[in-house]
Amino acid sequence: MNQMEHPLGGLTFGLFGKGGSGKSTVSIILARALVRAGYTVALIDADSSNHGIHSALGVSAPGSLLDYFGGMVFSGGKVTCPVDDPTPLAGGAISLNDLPGGYSRRTAEGIIFLAAGKIGSAGPGAGCDGPISKIARDLVVTDLPVPAVTLLDFKAGLEDSARGVLTAVDRALVVVDPTAAAIQLAIDLESTVARIHDGQEPATSHLESLELAEIARARYRQARVERVDAIVNRITGEQQRQFIVASLKAHGVEVIGAIQREAGIEEAWLTGARLGPGIGRFAGDGIVAALEKTATGRNAGIVSDLSCSRP
Ligand SMILES: Nc1ncnc2c1ncn2[C@@H]1O[C@H](COP(=O)(O)OP(=O)(O)O)[C@@H](O)[C@H]1O
Ligand SMILES: [Mg+2]
Repeated sequence: MNQMEHPLGGLTFGLFGKGGSGKSTVSIILARALVRAGYTVALIDADSSNHGIHSALGVSAPGSLLDYFGGMVFSGGKVTCPVDDPTPLAGGAISLNDLPGGYSRRTAEGIIFLAAGKIGSAGPGAGCDGPISKIARDLVVTDLPVPAVTLLDFKAGLEDSARGVLTAVDRALVVVDPTAAAIQLAIDLESTVARIHDGQEPATSHLESLELAEIARARYRQARVERVDAIVNRITGEQQRQFIVASLKAHGVEVIGAIQREAGIEEAWLTGARLGPGIGRFAGDGIVAALEKTATGRNAGIVSDLSCSRP
């Protein structure tokens, strides 16, 4: 891989943000732009609640990785919740070649799409989606052609990050729609990452053993998350954009792209149609350029190195 030409190769990006801010829309726009820039892209649907990103990508829903990994612990399955069991997901490194076809999709533009799982059909009292966070946290696709980028499209809010997924991404992207709540969530995410960098330890008082507590602490010590960048979405004017940029800048969060409000985006999500290929194209290319400009090269290749060391 030519690191100079593709400085994002090997990196994992997590998309965070307030509910409905546009995480899935931005994931698709960014995934397409990365493919245009020459990357292989694995997009993981890590939202345990919302259905529909597969339709916006123009493919049918793949099988749930939660089923592949043996179901959730609350229903007698194998996948535990990372809050009370921080140990790694067994078999989390998967080879696309070995994964049965039903568990992955390939979009027209070549994006590889996987889905961590949904809680919708779990039934009453079975709605804790921690196991799905664990899959998002620990899944590594080992045989993506390089240069490869992994995008994790999370569910709304900061719960996933509280479950440790921030320790599994190289960079966090926060989608900010024109609301004070979305701006606040971006600031909170930035502050969480700053505290990880400062060496603040995760909460472990609830863990059953000293050994588990040490596993949780080690995960945070080894976290490679570099920074948080914001992408503004659904804006209707320059004044709105500038207000959000200034509000975030005051808290050390850089805005690396802005996507306009477009009727075509609403239409696609309403009708279940594929998001038109021209949608957000220019903004997407700008976001990739901004990400490449700020790439440090520090974490690049870590994922592939890891895959080499695993059987
Ligand atoms: N740039 C945009 N222009 C117009 N509507 C948008 C835009 N981005 C998102 N939306 C609308 O907001 C809704 C939520 O977007 P989505 O990407 O699903 O957000 P999230 O993944 O954060 O929940 C979509 O159903 C769509 O109607
Ligand atoms: Mg979504």
